[in-house]
Amino acid sequence: MTSKSARATKPFRLAMLTGGGDCPGLNAVIRAAARSAFRLGWEVFGIEDGFEGLLTRRAHKLHPRDVRGILHLGGTILGTSNRVNPFRVERRSANRSSTADADRSAEVVRNFKDMGLDALIAIGGDGTLGIALRLAKKGIPVVGVPKTIDNDIECTSVTFGFDTAVATATDAIDKLHPTAQAHGRVMVVELMGRNAGFIALNSGVAGGADVILIPEIPFDMKRVCDKIRDREKRRRTGYFSIVVVAEGARSKGGKIHLRSVDEGEAPRLGGIGQWVAEEIAKGTGKETRSLVLGHLQRGGPPTTFDRLLGTRFGAAAVRAVKDRDFEMMVALNPPQIVRIPLAEAVGDGRTKRVPLDSDVVLSARGLGVSFGD
Ligand code: F6P
Repeated sequence: MTSKSARATKPFRLAMLTGGGDCPGLNAVIRAAARSAFRLGWEVFGIEDGFEGLLTRRAHKLHPRDVRGILHLGGTILGTSNRVNPFRVERRSANRSSTADADRSAEVVRNFKDMGLDALIAIGGDGTLGIALRLAKKGIPVVGVPKTIDNDIECTSVTFGFDTAVATATDAIDKLHPTAQAHGRVMVVELMGRNAGFIALNSGVAGGADVILIPEIPFDMKRVCDKIRDREKRRRTGYFSIVVVAEGARSKGGKIHLRSVDEGEAPRLGGIGQWVAEEIAKGTGKETRSLVLGHLQRGGPPTTFDRLLGTRFGAAAVRAVKDRDFEMMVALNPPQIVRIPLAEAVGDGRTKRVPLDSDVVLSARGLGVSFGD
């Protein structure tokens, strides 16, 4: 039997997981949280591959050497998954002829306790943090850290990963300019962001795009073509055009373009860029090319901003755990890192979208950028 004094000295056991799509800055959070925890004398455990690791009891103890030299690395040393939701796990029938969803959250809570873990820092987007909140209600002490390149989480002025994705997208737009100009073509680039247009808007403005199409502003193809024809008329400066399209953008009365819809997974968006390019070619007669920037936006080393924000979030999450302030999410409310109830940030499937009166939208309009509306 454990003596009273042995129990009193048992170190606090902190677990961490990363869930959903990876994003630059995850390793900065992991490093900052682990280092802060080590300095408090805690033990730190990395849950592998998001919630899948909690279902299958895959966790490993992290040592200081494990978090050395990872600050500048993209990806996540813990692995991640955007397929596993413990509240809805696909289960095959005995003869494997059919599948049904099973709620295995109680198993996750049991595993967490059996592994002797005391608290969980869940680093993820709205999906991961929504699951974390439900697990918190079932007894796992949770602190959330908001991550996503999409920047679509409420209650934080920005998520880490977004700045890097915008920098990558802006760099791509910069590189499209000379080739568009050389050939007098229209170049259409499709960017990520799911149902939020932040990446397209910010990189489009920073990259000097002529047309920016975002989910928050359904567009009219005629308006888009008018803008391109108008630039054509001012041939001295405008015989090529750059069009930035968010993957979740859609025409007025049109549908979101989907790449695939798999059971139990978030639908994968995509295809709108090529559609817009074809419509522009038909509507203006201009030679038009399109590309999808895709997962490049999630890769590469995090920018200075994302490293710093990730580090601040990781350290702040440990402070919240230390204060036993659970069911909270750390957030940026400049210049401070604050704590927000998880339910306020991600409850009821809440997500953030580009405000139509934001100064970036107004400034772009003021500069003559077309949103196709
Ligand atoms: O949420 C991040 C994100 O990169 C979205 O912008 C994009 O729609 C989605 O993930 C892609 O997911 P996957 O990695 O499953 O293709």
